[in-house]
Amino acid sequence: MLTKTNNPDTSAANEARISDLLEQMTLKEKVGQLIQFSGFYDVTGPAPEGEREAQKHRLLQSGIIGSMLNVVGCDEVRTFQTWAVENSRLGIPMLFAYDVIHGQKTMFPIPLAEAASWDLDLIQQSARIAAIEASAQGLNWTYAPMVDVTRDARWGRVMEGAGEDPFLNAVIAEARVNGFQGDDLKARDTVASTIKHFAGYGFVEAGKEYNAAEIGTVTLFNTVLQPFRDVLQATNPRSVMNAFNTLNGIPATGDKVLQRDLLKEDWGFDGVVVSDWASAIEMIDHGFAEDSRDAARLAIQAGCDVDMESYVYLDHLEDLVVSGEVDMALVDDAVRRTLRLKLELGLFDDPYRYLDRDRERELLLSEAHLEASLSMARKSIVLLKNDGDTLPLRKQEKVALVGALAADKDAPLGNWRAQADAHSAMSVLEGFERAGLEFSYSEGVSVQVGEAGFEYPVMVNTGNRDGIEDAVAVARDVDKVVLVLGETARQTGEGRSRTELGLPGLQQELLEAIYAVNQNLVLVVVSGRPLVLSWADQHVPAIVQAWHLGHRSGQAITEVLTGQENPSGKLPMSFPRAVGQLPLYYNHLNTGRPNRREQVVWAHYSDVDNSPLYPFGHGLSYSTFSYSGLTVSIQSDHIAVNVTVTNESEIDGEEVIQLYIRDRVASIARPVRELKAFEKEMLKAKSSLVIELKLSARDFGFYGPDGAFRLEPGEFDIFVGGSSQTSLTQTIRLSSDQLRSLGQRSEIMK
Ligand code: BGC
Repeated sequence: MLTKTNNPDTSAANEARISDLLEQMTLKEKVGQLIQFSGFYDVTGPAPEGEREAQKHRLLQSGIIGSMLNVVGCDEVRTFQTWAVENSRLGIPMLFAYDVIHGQKTMFPIPLAEAASWDLDLIQQSARIAAIEASAQGLNWTYAPMVDVTRDARWGRVMEGAGEDPFLNAVIAEARVNGFQGDDLKARDTVASTIKHFAGYGFVEAGKEYNAAEIGTVTLFNTVLQPFRDVLQATNPRSVMNAFNTLNGIPATGDKVLQRDLLKEDWGFDGVVVSDWASAIEMIDHGFAEDSRDAARLAIQAGCDVDMESYVYLDHLEDLVVSGEVDMALVDDAVRRTLRLKLELGLFDDPYRYLDRDRERELLLSEAHLEASLSMARKSIVLLKNDGDTLPLRKQEKVALVGALAADKDAPLGNWRAQADAHSAMSVLEGFERAGLEFSYSEGVSVQVGEAGFEYPVMVNTGNRDGIEDAVAVARDVDKVVLVLGETARQTGEGRSRTELGLPGLQQELLEAIYAVNQNLVLVVVSGRPLVLSWADQHVPAIVQAWHLGHRSGQAITEVLTGQENPSGKLPMSFPRAVGQLPLYYNHLNTGRPNRREQVVWAHYSDVDNSPLYPFGHGLSYSTFSYSGLTVSIQSDHIAVNVTVTNESEIDGEEVIQLYIRDRVASIARPVRELKAFEKEMLKAKSSLVIELKLSARDFGFYGPDGAFRLEPGEFDIFVGGSSQTSLTQTIRLSSDQLRSLGQRSEIMK
């Protein structure tokens, strides 16, 4: 059983009220609470056509449906809420859910980019603002954050999470949940949050969207489930979404061990489990459910409370209970959870509490929110390479700006952009103009042909080279060429898996054509995932990873390029040298043949080095940091790790001090390194700071193949530095007694 730290209102009175309601509800009414429809028509427009649509419309008007997705705006929400409250027999209000992933109207950097900031306060603020804007549009439930650990950049959804490390995923998701839910779930500017996708979606085989996931128990418990567990323990998100994929052969939506036994029973989760979009009915295609009736039975029995857009609960759940195939107690439990969430949100006190058109008008895209998005964007940029101090650009330098993405006002909004207006971000070109830079611009080649929406595939430009000649001419005689290349917003996200991770389309050709006439290049990479930048790494002196940074992208990038902002981001995912290395992650096992370089028969590829091109935790600064004086001491209730960090340069800068451990010998092989703590600090020019990082007993433990947590004595290497490749290290020995006493004191062994 987990301990909750910021419980919402779960008073006994609430539970009694729910019981009272449950007693009054008919089976039909109960099932209604477990159905979620997506907003499928404009309520102020004509009534929807088609049999299913008409049925949904009737049910919504009768007020029996428990929740909706994709209904946004005070007026729209009010219409549905009025039907629920006034037309239904018991007046039960509805929940309104939406994918508020990195902003509502004001776009912040995509989650993977925010993760690169390692700045938990800013990340929390980003989620807070997203919740303020979402709630101002009548919403009370977001489907974020995604806490899937992601090791394979081929998967388009890596943009939605915090990358490859379970600890970083957990602490970032905690910041996000805290931001969304705030201190008071009843407040008008907070929304319930959802951790997703439970579980294993980040491990879809070969990075192919919706593919199967095969995960051994050790990786499942230590890597995939660990962040879910940590976030539930620390922050209490009020819902969990299951997943599209099968995990070891069982579709997550029908997985009883995961949802009912582990999440609800063992971990004591008392919130709502919502299906992923139509994931219940998809169990038929998985070959797990016979038909939609079977899918409904399997889903409810497995512990999936709410059916999003499968209609299997709508069509069959009532009958399944009447026929005795599904126990009424399961339905009651699921309904209790949805009613609990409604009570916790204060919807029974005032179902219209979010619906204030003045708030909606004033808060969306406010100057303060845009400013916060800019702060987040600045900190999310990662300087990958900067040979010969190519950056920052000097004032007197003649600069050419090249690339369609440099002028693109849409790409920075990223995928999952909620209510953002298309083409509304500040481009790099506008950022340059705003900063008063003198430069010439050429598009070179376009990246995609035409517009691409959420539903449509991107047509990559593979044929039109017309602009290359002009770009080469513009680049020929300048001091430096800034190339902005990479992915458009719709080349990442759901359904956007790729097998090639080079610069899409003709952009590599453009880069090489420019290089042929001018080698003073700065490459700004715009993308939703790690790309393969091996050619660029060999030829281009300065490379900046700029992701999709939200509304103020152009300004943030300009500030970093000109040195007004000293970059401080660190990679949350390893950048591969070649696609063939994937999945690639720093916290891998050592193998039995890690390093016999003089032979052929060791764990390696014959064509590419084992190491990533840029490792997890890597990120440069215009300052130079050094580390010294690492000490590790065992205190009564923690282990203290001290290190001196020095900014050797003349420039103030921020550094992310990272601590990794390695368990040398254990009953199962342990990763070569694991991130256990970090701290982001501002260091003034020519100054030093002594940083203390703390470890608890839990940091030295792990889950065994049986899912039980183990603390084993022995030797542990502690590494501290500015990336996962740091070599500064100390070794400590911890006895069973020491581990036990550390564990007992801080009560972390449970
Ligand atoms: C995604 C979920 C999302 C849901 C609702 C699905 O396609 O996998 O993450 O919350 O749609 O939009």
